[in-house]
Amino acid sequence: MNMSKINRRTLLLTVLVLLLGCASPNPLENYEELEPATVLAHPEAMPSEEYPPEVVAHGQYLVKILRCGACHTDGALAGRPNPARLMAGSSVGIAFTNPLDDARPGIIYPSNLTPDPETGIGGWSEREIIQMVRTGDNRHGGKALSVMPYLAYADLNDEDVRAVAAYLRSLPPVRHEVPANVPEGRRARAPYVHFGVYMSKDLVIDP
Ligand code: HEC
Repeated sequence: MNMSKINRRTLLLTVLVLLLGCASPNPLENYEELEPATVLAHPEAMPSEEYPPEVVAHGQYLVKILRCGACHTDGALAGRPNPARLMAGSSVGIAFTNPLDDARPGIIYPSNLTPDPETGIGGWSEREIIQMVRTGDNRHGGKALSVMPYLAYADLNDEDVRAVAAYLRSLPPVRHEVPANVPEGRRARAPYVHFGVYMSKDLVIDP
């Protein structure tokens, strides 16, 4: 074995070690897999002067099967659903930008849907709630992020979506302020989860 061969081998080894050292860290290193809450309680409504009990009961049934509480209840996204805060918003947020690209994704915290006037939707009319659920258009003229699955609710018929609004408006108000949304690049102060569908960039869809 001559010198130049040894040198070449040393060089190759050094490059390999350097490459391994620089390999990008696993972006999911700081994440853990979660078991979502399977049993979700939805609170009982209060007697309503505005809506017949069967409409409110139908709304409760719909909200249950559409699993609104899976996001809008504290502890449902991660931890354990908090029975004192059913439908009163989540202190655990949802990342809406790709956490694989940026260690500090944008985060949104599902809102308090009880009729508390300050921290919930006490100021929302039936029409405003209906509009948000089916189209994502909020009462301030903006559009909800599609993390709120309004696209999946777009085909609720008038009777069903009205029952959903009737149920939400008949809930006992719970005072609970959810954390402020976090723009991408900022450090989140409250925990968050992420879910989504990610597609490989190097393969194209064959139409
Ligand atoms: C996958 C999680 C998820 C589910 C399921 C979900 N939401 Fe939401 N919802 C959100 C998020 C996140 C927001 C905040 C959206 C934004 O501000 O851009 C939101 C916002 C809302 C708002 C607006 C409240 C406000 O104060 O701005 C209403 C009303 C609402 N959701 C009702 C519902 C109803 C009713 C259901 C079930 C039929 C439901 N949501 C299911 C995540 C969810």
